[in-house]
Amino acid sequence: MCGIMGYVGHRSALPILLDGLRRLEYRGYDSAGVAVLNDGHIEVRKTAGKLAQLTEITSGPGLLHGTVGIGHTRWATHGLPTDANAHPHSDCGGRVVVIHNGIIENFLPLKEELQARGHTFRSDTDTEVIAHLIEEELYGHEQPGTGEPPRPLRGLGAERGNAETRRSGSLRITNHESQVTLEEAVRRAVQQTRGAYAIVVLCSDQPDRIVAVRQISPLIIGLGKGETILASDIPALLSHTRDVLVIEDGEMAVMTASGATVERLDGATVAKQPLRITWDAEMAEKGGYPHFMLKEIHEQPRALQETMMGRLDAPGAPELDGVSYSPEFVRGLRKLWITACGTAYHAGLVGRWVVEHWAKIPVEPELASELRYRDALIDPQTLTVAISQSGETADTLAAAREARKRGTRLAAITNVVGSTLSREADDVLYVRAGPEIAVASSKAYITMLVALQMLALDLAVRRGTVTPPRVAHIIQAMKALPGKAQEVLQRESEVASLAARLADREHMFFIGRGLDYAVAQEGSLKLKEISYLHSEALAAGELKHGTLALVTPGVPVFALVTQRHVYEKTLSNIQEVKARGGLVIAVAYDRDTEITKHTEVVLRIPDTLDDLAPVLAIIPLQLFAYYVARERGNDIDQPRNLAKSVTVE
Ligand code: G6P
Repeated sequence: MCGIMGYVGHRSALPILLDGLRRLEYRGYDSAGVAVLNDGHIEVRKTAGKLAQLTEITSGPGLLHGTVGIGHTRWATHGLPTDANAHPHSDCGGRVVVIHNGIIENFLPLKEELQARGHTFRSDTDTEVIAHLIEEELYGHEQPGTGEPPRPLRGLGAERGNAETRRSGSLRITNHESQVTLEEAVRRAVQQTRGAYAIVVLCSDQPDRIVAVRQISPLIIGLGKGETILASDIPALLSHTRDVLVIEDGEMAVMTASGATVERLDGATVAKQPLRITWDAEMAEKGGYPHFMLKEIHEQPRALQETMMGRLDAPGAPELDGVSYSPEFVRGLRKLWITACGTAYHAGLVGRWVVEHWAKIPVEPELASELRYRDALIDPQTLTVAISQSGETADTLAAAREARKRGTRLAAITNVVGSTLSREADDVLYVRAGPEIAVASSKAYITMLVALQMLALDLAVRRGTVTPPRVAHIIQAMKALPGKAQEVLQRESEVASLAARLADREHMFFIGRGLDYAVAQEGSLKLKEISYLHSEALAAGELKHGTLALVTPGVPVFALVTQRHVYEKTLSNIQEVKARGGLVIAVAYDRDTEITKHTEVVLRIPDTLDDLAPVLAIIPLQLFAYYVARERGNDIDQPRNLAKSVTVE
């Protein structure tokens, strides 16, 4: 989710790069950097912090001559937001620089191999491996002292796999001229990586070009007069050109001042027609969506995919980077506390269910503002999971610290690398949702759900409470979630028409049992936050104990019915509503044919395991809240009285 800029042309690159990065600032970032080709060598300047700091360290005449350069704003995923971890990253010889958006899943084994071959790393990032891989492809290596000529690497690994040279650990990158084009070197390097990313590469020995590869993360090339500009998002290009090439997954672009050629990573050429962008600057920031919230709702399939990436590849168990509790600790665990605020707390309610169901550990979720003042019986045989998108919410931090004082082990689930919560926790599971700008959380919530499911599964495997076939089944079903979330989004227009129909109501209710109740609470909160109408979520069985008095003819009641073991029970509650003339809107699986006997208004989600259903069931409710708020003309991204991050008590 980082900002990317690139420029090849006749003007000074630096101000164009800085201007483009500034136009991408709204996405959020924690560090920034540029690399400019200057008199045959590459100058890199980078810093933790904001663009103002970068502007300061790039001011003066030094970098201004260069007409080719790349720039980056980073949102940390691997490694803290420090100067060293800011992009661009260089190879050992300083001739190749790389900026990158996304995740290289297999960076650790690649890094170990590269280090064994003598490469020196200067950062903790996954990105840096790409620079070193390209360096090897361009310049090969030699064994110092042997007098052997350099060996440019042609194949994919035959020479690199040489056991003797690996063992010696003495390989050194040579200084010879490369025989290989930059694009060929980049192609071979990226073929060794797995992940979702956009990569942009500059090389001082091939100074007329920038090479860029897209593997899921967005990249757009703007075609100007005698200049070509690259960016991760349209707003950064609009002041220079409106004619763009959109790079697709698996494509590589070679940009020069006279334009860009695009080919597939397998070498096939791609004939691309430029598109003319008609958006204004504000529309462009939102990727063409009218609001950040809608954009973020639509980013959910990708956010899910990134959150699971590299963590569910082994068949037998999740592999959770950043989680290091010992087997003995997990076996001796007596209880889990989950603490959070707002939407993150609602994610915690789903967490309770899956941890109890799979790992058979009692779980107590508690609002952070309550837990911090409770005489909670937290002891060293507990794990406290604090969940926070920002990692900075005052109540959550206070509750986590209080729990820690009582001897618990602290695990954080957060979206912000290096946030206070992540620094204070013993274990950290990042959700990788990318910057979330709308105050009402959507993609952070959904990624918290899968993070909790992965954590629950990990605990279950370690405690032996799930069989290997069941684990495999759950993992397979989790991996299908991004595609299914996309299917739900394709049904958006049905939700929008329902919202248009109901937008003038003043009260709505959400009911469900078990996990459906947890989702009902989040659906109701979304509606309140942005539509300002009154809504309430109830455990379906509780309706008759009071709130049913408020159900009068025409009052909308959302009934979630994804949980098979309580399905019949919830149907009875639907009947209670119908008997009072309430309008029942069900959220049900595609396979559920029974539900239409009880109500004609059904929002459908694809079939999945009941334990995973919240990830899909929340999407129509997010869309409903969004469209009701839009019908009512509210400020959706910044609802009244609310803040994205509440850092005071
Ligand atoms: C605020 C936001 C909510 C969010 C809550 C917790 O109230 O408006 O959307 O759920 O804080 O934030 P956190 O960053 O800790 O997840």
